[in-house]
Amino acid sequence: MAGNSSSPAPVAASAAPWHPAAWKGLPASQLPTWPEGAALEAARAGLAGLPPLVFAGEARKLTDALADVSRGRAFILQAGDCAESFAEQGADQIRDKLKVILQMAVVLTYASGVPVVKIGRIAGQYAKPRSSLTERVGDVEMPAFRGHIINDDAPVPAARVPDPNRMVTAYHHAAATLNLLRAFTNGGFADLSHVHAWNQEFLASSAEGRRYEAIAEEIDRALRFMRACGVDLSAGAPIHQVDFYTSHEALLLDYEEMLTRRDSLSGDWYDCSAHMLWIGERTRELDGAHVGFLAGVHNPIGVKLGPTATPAEAVALCEVLNPEKIPGRLTLICRLGVAKVTSLLPPLIRAVTDRGHPVVWECDPMHGNTFTSENGRKTRHFDDVLGEIRGFFAAHKAEGTWPGGVHVELTGDDVTECLGGVEDILEEQLPLRYTTTCDPRLNARQSIDLAFRVAELLRG
Ligand code: PEP
Ligand code: CO
Repeated sequence: MAGNSSSPAPVAASAAPWHPAAWKGLPASQLPTWPEGAALEAARAGLAGLPPLVFAGEARKLTDALADVSRGRAFILQAGDCAESFAEQGADQIRDKLKVILQMAVVLTYASGVPVVKIGRIAGQYAKPRSSLTERVGDVEMPAFRGHIINDDAPVPAARVPDPNRMVTAYHHAAATLNLLRAFTNGGFADLSHVHAWNQEFLASSAEGRRYEAIAEEIDRALRFMRACGVDLSAGAPIHQVDFYTSHEALLLDYEEMLTRRDSLSGDWYDCSAHMLWIGERTRELDGAHVGFLAGVHNPIGVKLGPTATPAEAVALCEVLNPEKIPGRLTLICRLGVAKVTSLLPPLIRAVTDRGHPVVWECDPMHGNTFTSENGRKTRHFDDVLGEIRGFFAAHKAEGTWPGGVHVELTGDDVTECLGGVEDILEEQLPLRYTTTCDPRLNARQSIDLAFRVAELLRG
Protein backbone atom coordinates (compact mmCIF):
# COMPACT_ATOMS: atom_id res chain seq x y z
CA MET A 1 0.00 0.00 0.00
CA ALA A 2 2.75 2.45 0.86
CA GLY A 3 3.69 4.11 -2.43
CA ASN A 4 0.75 2.54 -4.25
CA SER A 5 -1.02 5.49 -5.86
CA SER A 6 -4.12 3.54 -6.92
CA SER A 7 -4.95 2.78 -3.29
CA PRO A 8 -3.91 5.61 -0.97
CA ALA A 9 -2.94 4.63 2.55
CA PRO A 10 -5.73 5.25 5.09
CA VAL A 11 -3.40 6.63 7.77
CA ALA A 12 -4.62 7.75 11.18
CA ALA A 13 -3.36 11.24 11.78
CA SER A 14 -0.02 11.82 10.12
CA ALA A 15 0.94 12.15 6.48
CA ALA A 16 3.85 9.68 6.79
CA PRO A 17 3.33 6.44 4.82
CA TRP A 18 1.75 3.72 6.92
CA HIS A 19 4.02 0.92 8.05
CA PRO A 20 3.29 -2.08 10.32
CA ALA A 21 5.68 -0.67 12.98
CA ALA A 22 4.27 2.87 12.92
CA TRP A 23 1.98 2.16 15.92
CA LYS A 24 5.04 2.32 18.14
CA GLY A 25 5.09 6.10 17.82
CA LEU A 26 1.47 6.44 18.99
CA PRO A 27 0.01 6.39 22.50
CA ALA A 28 -1.06 2.83 23.32
CA SER A 29 -3.30 1.60 26.09
CA GLN A 30 -3.70 -1.96 27.39
CA LEU A 31 -0.27 -3.19 26.24
CA PRO A 32 1.90 -5.17 28.67
CA THR A 33 5.24 -3.93 29.93
CA TRP A 34 7.47 -6.76 28.80
CA PRO A 35 10.38 -7.67 31.07
CA GLU A 36 13.78 -6.13 30.19
CA GLY A 37 16.01 -8.31 28.05
CA ALA A 38 16.33 -9.89 24.67
CA ALA A 39 13.22 -12.08 24.84
CA LEU A 40 10.89 -9.59 23.15
CA GLU A 41 13.13 -9.08 20.13
CA ALA A 42 13.70 -12.84 19.88
CA ALA A 43 9.95 -13.51 19.89
CA ARG A 44 9.29 -10.78 17.34
CA ALA A 45 12.00 -12.16 15.07
CA GLY A 46 10.61 -15.66 15.54
CA LEU A 47 7.13 -14.54 14.46
CA ALA A 48 8.49 -12.60 11.48
CA GLY A 49 10.05 -15.83 10.18
CA LEU A 50 6.82 -17.84 10.36
CA PRO A 51 4.29 -18.19 7.52
CA PRO A 52 1.08 -16.14 7.42
CA LEU A 53 -1.90 -17.89 9.04
CA VAL A 54 -4.44 -16.57 6.55
CA PHE A 55 -4.07 -15.16 3.07
CA ALA A 56 -4.93 -11.77 1.61
CA GLY A 57 -7.31 -13.32 -0.92
CA GLU A 58 -9.32 -14.92 1.90
CA ALA A 59 -9.55 -11.58 3.73
CA ARG A 60 -10.75 -9.93 0.50
CA LYS A 61 -13.39 -12.64 0.10
CA LEU A 62 -14.63 -11.84 3.61
CA THR A 63 -14.73 -8.11 2.79
CA ASP A 64 -16.94 -9.00 -0.20
CA ALA A 65 -19.22 -11.13 1.98
CA LEU A 66 -19.45 -8.29 4.51
CA ALA A 67 -20.22 -5.84 1.71
CA ASP A 68 -23.32 -7.97 1.09
CA VAL A 69 -24.17 -7.59 4.77
CA SER A 70 -23.76 -3.80 4.53
CA ARG A 71 -26.30 -3.86 1.68
CA GLY A 72 -28.81 -5.87 3.74
CA ARG A 73 -28.37 -9.12 1.81
CA ALA A 74 -26.67 -11.27 4.45
CA PHE A 75 -26.27 -11.62 8.22
CA ILE A 76 -23.14 -12.20 10.34
CA LEU A 77 -22.80 -14.77 13.05
CA GLN A 78 -19.56 -13.99 14.89
CA ALA A 79 -19.01 -16.27 17.87
CA GLY A 80 -16.54 -18.01 20.11
CA ASP A 81 -14.66 -17.75 23.39
CA CYS A 82 -14.06 -14.55 25.27
CA ALA A 83 -10.49 -15.77 25.70
CA GLU A 84 -9.16 -18.93 24.08
CA SER A 85 -7.06 -20.98 26.45
CA PHE A 86 -3.74 -22.69 25.66
CA ALA A 87 -4.88 -25.42 28.05
CA GLU A 88 -8.21 -26.20 26.40
CA GLN A 89 -7.59 -26.48 22.70
CA GLY A 90 -8.07 -30.16 22.06
CA ALA A 91 -9.73 -31.42 18.89
CA ASP A 92 -12.98 -32.19 20.71
CA GLN A 93 -13.32 -28.71 22.11
CA ILE A 94 -12.66 -27.03 18.77
CA ARG A 95 -15.02 -29.44 17.01
CA ASP A 96 -17.82 -28.85 19.52
CA LYS A 97 -17.49 -25.07 19.24
CA LEU A 98 -17.63 -25.35 15.46
CA LYS A 99 -20.68 -27.64 15.72
CA VAL A 100 -22.63 -25.06 17.72
CA ILE A 101 -21.71 -22.25 15.33
CA LEU A 102 -22.71 -24.39 12.31
CA GLN A 103 -25.97 -25.33 14.04
CA MET A 104 -26.77 -21.70 14.80
CA ALA A 105 -25.98 -20.75 11.21
CA VAL A 106 -28.29 -23.51 9.90
CA VAL A 107 -31.11 -22.34 12.17
CA LEU A 108 -30.61 -18.71 11.11
CA THR A 109 -30.37 -19.50 7.40
CA TYR A 110 -33.19 -22.02 7.29
CA ALA A 111 -35.60 -20.03 9.41
CA SER A 112 -34.92 -16.63 7.86
CA GLY A 113 -33.78 -17.42 4.31
CA VAL A 114 -30.90 -14.96 4.72
CA PRO A 115 -27.30 -16.14 3.96
CA VAL A 116 -25.12 -16.22 7.07
CA VAL A 117 -21.46 -15.15 7.14
CA LYS A 118 -19.75 -17.33 9.74
CA ILE A 119 -16.85 -15.82 11.69
CA GLY A 120 -15.25 -17.46 14.74
CA ARG A 121 -13.67 -15.67 17.67
CA ILE A 122 -11.08 -18.37 17.30
CA ALA A 123 -7.49 -19.24 16.33
CA GLY A 124 -6.05 -16.06 17.79
CA GLN A 125 -8.38 -14.74 20.53
CA TYR A 126 -5.68 -14.86 23.21
CA ALA A 127 -5.19 -11.25 24.40
CA LYS A 128 -7.52 -9.50 26.85
CA PRO A 129 -7.94 -5.84 27.75
CA ARG A 130 -8.58 -5.36 31.47
CA SER A 131 -10.48 -2.71 33.43
CA SER A 132 -8.07 -3.16 36.31
CA LEU A 133 -4.34 -3.91 36.03
CA THR A 134 -4.38 -5.94 39.24
CA GLU A 135 -6.69 -8.40 40.92
CA ARG A 136 -7.02 -9.71 44.44
CA VAL A 137 -6.92 -13.47 44.98
CA GLY A 138 -7.59 -14.19 48.64
CA ASP A 139 -5.28 -11.77 50.47
CA VAL A 140 -2.83 -11.36 47.61
CA GLU A 141 -2.91 -8.49 45.13
CA MET A 142 -1.35 -9.58 41.83
CA PRO A 143 -1.17 -8.43 38.18
CA ALA A 144 -4.37 -9.26 36.29
CA PHE A 145 -4.54 -12.14 33.83
CA ARG A 146 -4.26 -10.61 30.34
CA GLY A 147 -4.78 -13.63 28.11
CA HIS A 148 -2.54 -16.62 27.43
CA ILE A 149 -0.58 -14.75 24.76
CA ILE A 150 0.75 -12.49 27.57
CA ASN A 151 0.66 -14.31 30.93
CA ASP A 152 -0.88 -17.29 32.71
CA ASP A 153 -4.16 -17.35 34.61
CA ALA A 154 -2.81 -19.37 37.58
CA PRO A 155 -3.59 -17.35 40.74
CA VAL A 156 0.04 -16.73 41.75
CA PRO A 157 2.02 -13.54 41.09
CA ALA A 158 4.85 -15.36 39.26
CA ALA A 159 2.41 -16.70 36.64
CA ARG A 160 1.25 -13.18 35.87
CA VAL A 161 4.63 -11.89 34.62
CA PRO A 162 4.29 -11.10 30.89
CA ASP A 163 6.38 -13.48 28.76
CA PRO A 164 7.02 -12.46 25.10
CA ASN A 165 7.72 -16.06 24.16
CA ARG A 166 4.00 -16.73 24.68
CA MET A 167 3.41 -14.89 21.39
CA VAL A 168 5.24 -17.65 19.53
CA THR A 169 3.31 -20.29 21.48
CA ALA A 170 0.07 -18.48 20.60
CA TYR A 171 0.98 -18.55 16.93
CA HIS A 172 1.42 -22.34 17.08
CA HIS A 173 -1.88 -22.80 18.91
CA ALA A 174 -3.58 -20.60 16.32
CA ALA A 175 -1.99 -22.56 13.47
CA ALA A 176 -3.08 -25.92 14.93
CA THR A 177 -6.62 -24.64 15.56
CA LEU A 178 -6.89 -23.17 12.09
CA ASN A 179 -5.58 -26.35 10.52
CA LEU A 180 -8.32 -28.36 12.21
CA LEU A 181 -10.98 -25.79 11.30
CA ARG A 182 -9.91 -25.89 7.65
CA ALA A 183 -10.09 -29.69 7.70
CA PHE A 184 -13.53 -29.68 9.34
CA THR A 185 -15.04 -26.99 7.11
CA ASN A 186 -13.61 -28.17 3.79
CA GLY A 187 -13.10 -31.87 4.41
CA GLY A 188 -16.67 -33.12 4.71
CA PHE A 189 -17.59 -32.51 8.38
CA ALA A 190 -19.48 -29.29 7.54
CA ASP A 191 -21.32 -30.95 4.64
CA LEU A 192 -25.02 -30.15 4.92
CA SER A 193 -25.83 -33.84 4.66
CA HIS A 194 -24.16 -34.21 8.11
CA VAL A 195 -26.48 -31.66 9.66
CA HIS A 196 -27.73 -34.25 12.22
CA ALA A 197 -24.21 -35.12 13.37
CA TRP A 198 -23.62 -31.59 14.71
CA ASN A 199 -26.27 -32.06 17.39
CA GLN A 200 -24.34 -33.14 20.49
CA GLU A 201 -25.90 -35.76 22.74
CA PHE A 202 -26.58 -33.52 25.74
CA LEU A 203 -28.17 -31.03 23.37
CA ALA A 204 -30.24 -33.48 21.32
CA SER A 205 -32.24 -34.53 24.40
CA SER A 206 -33.27 -30.93 25.17
CA ALA A 207 -36.17 -28.90 23.77
CA GLU A 208 -33.80 -26.73 21.67
CA GLY A 209 -32.00 -29.84 20.45
CA ARG A 210 -35.28 -31.38 19.31
CA ARG A 211 -36.29 -28.15 17.60
CA TYR A 212 -32.95 -28.19 15.79
CA GLU A 213 -33.46 -31.86 14.89
CA ALA A 214 -36.76 -30.96 13.21
CA ILE A 215 -34.99 -28.44 10.95
CA ALA A 216 -32.24 -30.97 10.23
CA GLU A 217 -34.92 -33.46 9.16
CA GLU A 218 -36.48 -30.90 6.81
CA ILE A 219 -33.08 -30.14 5.30
CA ASP A 220 -32.54 -33.88 4.75
CA ARG A 221 -35.88 -34.12 3.05
CA ALA A 222 -35.12 -31.09 0.85
CA LEU A 223 -31.79 -32.63 -0.21
CA ARG A 224 -33.49 -35.97 -1.02
CA PHE A 225 -36.10 -34.06 -3.02
CA MET A 226 -33.45 -32.17 -4.99
CA ARG A 227 -31.54 -35.38 -5.74
CA ALA A 228 -34.77 -37.07 -6.86
CA CYS A 229 -35.43 -34.14 -9.19
CA GLY A 230 -32.00 -34.65 -10.76
CA VAL A 231 -30.28 -31.61 -9.16
CA ASP A 232 -26.55 -32.32 -9.24
CA LEU A 233 -25.37 -32.42 -5.62
CA SER A 234 -22.10 -34.16 -6.42
CA ALA A 235 -18.65 -33.12 -5.26
CA GLY A 236 -18.56 -29.53 -6.52
CA ALA A 237 -21.89 -28.40 -5.00
CA PRO A 238 -21.63 -25.65 -2.34
CA ILE A 239 -23.51 -27.76 0.23
CA HIS A 240 -20.38 -29.84 0.86
CA GLN A 241 -18.27 -27.18 2.57
CA VAL A 242 -18.64 -23.83 4.31
CA ASP A 243 -16.70 -20.59 4.32
CA PHE A 244 -15.64 -20.14 7.91
CA TYR A 245 -13.54 -17.12 8.85
CA THR A 246 -11.40 -16.32 11.89
CA SER A 247 -11.26 -13.14 13.95
CA HIS A 248 -9.89 -11.74 17.19
CA GLU A 249 -9.30 -8.45 18.96
CA ALA A 250 -6.12 -6.86 17.56
CA LEU A 251 -4.90 -5.92 21.02
CA LEU A 252 -1.33 -7.17 21.26
CA LEU A 253 0.32 -5.08 18.59
CA ASP A 254 3.74 -6.79 18.76
CA TYR A 255 2.02 -9.98 17.60
CA GLU A 256 -0.18 -8.29 14.98
CA GLU A 257 2.71 -6.28 13.54
CA MET A 258 4.90 -9.34 13.02
CA LEU A 259 2.12 -11.19 11.20
CA THR A 260 1.41 -8.25 8.91
CA ARG A 261 2.66 -8.99 5.43
CA ARG A 262 2.54 -7.26 2.07
CA ASP A 263 0.29 -9.04 -0.42
CA SER A 264 2.25 -9.94 -3.53
CA LEU A 265 -0.77 -9.42 -5.82
CA SER A 266 -2.01 -6.00 -4.68
CA GLY A 267 1.05 -4.67 -2.82
CA ASP A 268 -1.27 -3.92 0.12
CA TRP A 269 -0.57 -4.78 3.79
CA TYR A 270 -2.69 -7.49 5.41
CA ASP A 271 -2.64 -8.62 9.03
CA CYS A 272 -2.35 -12.34 8.33
CA SER A 273 -3.06 -13.43 11.92
CA ALA A 274 -6.82 -13.63 11.12
CA HIS A 275 -9.30 -12.76 8.41
CA MET A 276 -11.00 -10.05 10.47
CA LEU A 277 -9.58 -8.01 13.34
CA TRP A 278 -11.36 -5.65 15.70
CA ILE A 279 -10.48 -2.79 18.03
CA GLY A 280 -11.87 -3.14 21.55
CA GLU A 281 -13.92 -0.66 23.54
CA ARG A 282 -10.88 0.24 25.67
CA THR A 283 -8.47 0.90 22.80
CA ARG A 284 -10.50 2.87 20.28
CA GLU A 285 -8.82 6.27 20.88
CA LEU A 286 -8.76 8.04 17.52
CA ASP A 287 -5.08 8.98 17.69
CA GLY A 288 -4.05 5.83 19.53
CA ALA A 289 -1.84 2.93 18.45
CA HIS A 290 -4.66 0.41 17.86
CA VAL A 291 -6.67 2.64 15.54
CA GLY A 292 -3.47 3.77 13.81
CA PHE A 293 -2.44 0.16 13.26
CA LEU A 294 -5.72 -1.22 11.88
CA ALA A 295 -6.20 1.90 9.71
CA GLY A 296 -3.37 0.64 7.52
CA VAL A 297 -4.16 -3.05 7.06
CA HIS A 298 -6.56 -4.05 4.31
CA ASN A 299 -8.45 -6.79 6.17
CA PRO A 300 -12.09 -6.24 7.04
CA ILE A 301 -12.01 -4.68 10.51
CA GLY A 302 -14.39 -3.93 13.35
CA VAL A 303 -14.54 -1.47 16.21
CA LYS A 304 -16.51 -1.91 19.42
CA LEU A 305 -18.76 0.95 20.49
CA GLY A 306 -19.77 1.01 24.14
CA PRO A 307 -22.25 3.30 25.92
CA THR A 308 -19.78 6.22 26.12
CA ALA A 309 -19.26 6.35 22.33
CA THR A 310 -20.71 9.57 20.89
CA PRO A 311 -22.15 9.89 17.36
CA ALA A 312 -19.25 12.25 16.53
CA GLU A 313 -16.72 9.63 17.69
CA ALA A 314 -18.41 6.95 15.60
CA VAL A 315 -18.24 9.16 12.50
CA ALA A 316 -14.60 10.07 13.20
CA LEU A 317 -13.71 6.37 13.52
CA CYS A 318 -15.41 5.68 10.17
CA GLU A 319 -13.41 8.49 8.57
CA VAL A 320 -10.08 7.27 9.90
CA LEU A 321 -10.71 3.54 9.44
CA ASN A 322 -12.58 3.61 6.14
CA PRO A 323 -11.91 6.95 4.42
CA GLU A 324 -12.65 5.48 1.01
CA LYS A 325 -16.04 4.19 2.20
CA ILE A 326 -15.40 0.65 1.00
CA PRO A 327 -18.48 -1.51 1.72
CA GLY A 328 -17.58 -4.45 3.99
CA ARG A 329 -14.36 -2.86 5.24
CA LEU A 330 -15.74 -1.61 8.57
CA THR A 331 -18.11 -3.21 11.07
CA LEU A 332 -19.38 -1.20 14.03
CA ILE A 333 -19.86 -3.67 16.87
CA CYS A 334 -22.29 -2.03 19.30
CA ARG A 335 -22.29 -3.26 22.93
CA LEU A 336 -24.46 -0.73 24.64
CA GLY A 337 -26.34 -2.82 27.20
CA VAL A 338 -30.01 -3.77 27.28
CA ALA A 339 -31.01 -0.68 29.25
CA LYS A 340 -29.35 1.78 26.88
CA VAL A 341 -29.53 0.29 23.40
CA THR A 342 -32.88 1.91 22.58
CA SER A 343 -31.73 5.43 23.43
CA LEU A 344 -28.06 5.25 22.37
CA LEU A 345 -28.15 3.29 19.11
CA PRO A 346 -30.46 5.47 16.93
CA PRO A 347 -28.26 8.61 17.17
CA LEU A 348 -25.19 6.52 16.24
CA ILE A 349 -27.00 5.03 13.24
CA ARG A 350 -28.24 8.45 12.08
CA ALA A 351 -24.85 10.15 12.33
CA VAL A 352 -23.00 7.42 10.44
CA THR A 353 -25.73 7.04 7.80
CA ASP A 354 -25.97 10.81 7.24
CA ARG A 355 -22.25 10.89 6.40
CA GLY A 356 -22.71 8.12 3.84
CA HIS A 357 -20.57 5.49 5.56
CA PRO A 358 -21.46 1.98 4.32
CA VAL A 359 -20.81 0.23 7.63
CA VAL A 360 -21.95 -3.17 8.81
CA TRP A 361 -23.94 -2.85 12.05
CA GLU A 362 -23.36 -5.70 14.45
CA CYS A 363 -24.77 -6.27 17.95
CA ASP A 364 -22.56 -7.60 20.74
CA PRO A 365 -25.22 -8.27 23.40
CA MET A 366 -22.69 -9.68 25.89
CA HIS A 367 -20.25 -6.99 27.02
CA GLY A 368 -22.78 -4.32 28.00
CA ASN A 369 -24.69 -6.79 30.18
CA THR A 370 -22.01 -8.27 32.43
CA PHE A 371 -22.41 -8.16 36.20
CA THR A 372 -21.03 -9.99 39.23
CA SER A 373 -23.43 -12.39 40.94
CA GLU A 374 -23.80 -12.60 44.70
CA ASN A 375 -21.46 -15.58 44.80
CA GLY A 376 -18.76 -13.53 43.05
CA ARG A 377 -19.05 -14.95 39.50
CA LYS A 378 -19.02 -12.65 36.49
CA THR A 379 -22.18 -13.49 34.57
CA ARG A 380 -24.83 -12.34 32.09
CA HIS A 381 -28.53 -13.13 31.92
CA PHE A 382 -29.91 -14.73 28.76
CA ASP A 383 -32.90 -12.32 28.90
CA ASP A 384 -30.57 -9.29 28.83
CA VAL A 385 -28.64 -10.76 25.89
CA LEU A 386 -31.85 -11.34 23.97
CA GLY A 387 -33.24 -7.98 25.12
CA GLU A 388 -30.28 -6.07 23.69
CA ILE A 389 -30.63 -7.92 20.37
CA ARG A 390 -34.33 -7.02 20.27
CA GLY A 391 -33.47 -3.36 20.93
CA PHE A 392 -30.85 -3.51 18.17
CA PHE A 393 -33.38 -4.89 15.65
CA ALA A 394 -36.02 -2.34 16.70
CA ALA A 395 -33.62 0.59 16.30
CA HIS A 396 -32.62 -0.54 12.81
CA LYS A 397 -36.23 -1.06 11.80
CA ALA A 398 -37.08 2.48 12.93
CA GLU A 399 -34.07 3.98 11.12
CA GLY A 400 -34.54 1.95 7.94
CA THR A 401 -31.09 0.32 8.26
CA TRP A 402 -30.07 -3.33 8.28
CA PRO A 403 -29.30 -5.14 11.56
CA GLY A 404 -26.25 -6.87 10.13
CA GLY A 405 -25.42 -9.51 12.69
CA VAL A 406 -24.64 -10.68 16.18
CA HIS A 407 -21.34 -11.11 18.02
CA VAL A 408 -21.58 -13.55 20.93
CA GLU A 409 -19.37 -15.37 23.42
CA LEU A 410 -20.20 -19.07 23.51
CA THR A 411 -18.77 -22.54 23.86
CA GLY A 412 -19.81 -25.98 22.71
CA ASP A 413 -19.35 -27.24 26.26
CA ASP A 414 -22.18 -27.73 28.72
CA VAL A 415 -21.08 -24.88 31.00
CA THR A 416 -23.02 -22.90 33.62
CA GLU A 417 -21.66 -19.39 33.13
CA CYS A 418 -24.65 -17.33 31.89
CA LEU A 419 -27.96 -17.23 33.79
CA GLY A 420 -31.39 -18.11 32.45
CA GLY A 421 -32.29 -19.65 29.12
CA VAL A 422 -34.76 -22.51 28.73
CA GLU A 423 -32.93 -24.61 31.31
CA ASP A 424 -33.09 -21.49 33.57
CA ILE A 425 -29.61 -21.53 35.10
CA LEU A 426 -29.74 -19.92 38.56
CA GLU A 427 -27.06 -17.98 40.45
CA GLU A 428 -26.41 -20.90 42.81
CA GLN A 429 -25.74 -23.17 39.82
CA LEU A 430 -23.01 -20.95 38.33
CA PRO A 431 -20.13 -22.69 40.17
CA LEU A 432 -21.19 -26.14 38.84
CA ARG A 433 -19.38 -25.88 35.51
CA TYR A 434 -17.83 -22.42 35.34
CA THR A 435 -14.67 -22.91 33.27
CA THR A 436 -14.12 -19.71 31.28
CA THR A 437 -10.72 -18.04 31.62
CA CYS A 438 -12.35 -14.63 31.14
CA ASP A 439 -15.98 -13.62 30.44
CA PRO A 440 -19.02 -15.93 30.86
CA ARG A 441 -20.15 -17.74 27.68
CA LEU A 442 -23.50 -19.04 26.50
CA ASN A 443 -23.56 -22.84 26.56
CA ALA A 444 -24.65 -24.89 23.53
CA ARG A 445 -28.34 -25.01 24.56
CA GLN A 446 -28.52 -21.28 25.25
CA SER A 447 -26.75 -20.63 21.92
CA ILE A 448 -29.19 -22.71 19.84
CA ASP A 449 -32.12 -21.15 21.68
CA LEU A 450 -30.71 -17.69 20.87
CA ALA A 451 -30.35 -18.62 17.19
CA PHE A 452 -34.05 -19.53 17.00
CA ARG A 453 -35.02 -16.22 18.61
CA VAL A 454 -32.76 -14.19 16.30
CA ALA A 455 -34.14 -16.08 13.29
CA GLU A 456 -37.65 -15.00 14.35
CA LEU A 457 -36.49 -11.38 14.53
CA LEU A 458 -34.87 -11.68 11.10
CA ARG A 459 -38.04 -13.13 9.62
CA GLY A 460 -40.11 -10.37 11.17
C1 PEP B 1 -14.34 -8.83 24.23
O1 PEP B 1 -14.85 -8.83 23.10
O2 PEP B 1 -14.04 -9.85 24.84
C2 PEP B 1 -14.15 -7.51 24.90
C3 PEP B 1 -13.24 -7.33 25.84
O3 PEP B 1 -15.03 -6.59 24.46
P1 PEP B 1 -15.09 -5.01 24.66
O4 PEP B 1 -13.85 -4.43 24.03
O5 PEP B 1 -16.33 -4.65 23.90
O6 PEP B 1 -15.21 -4.74 26.12
CO1 CO C 1 -15.36 -10.93 26.50
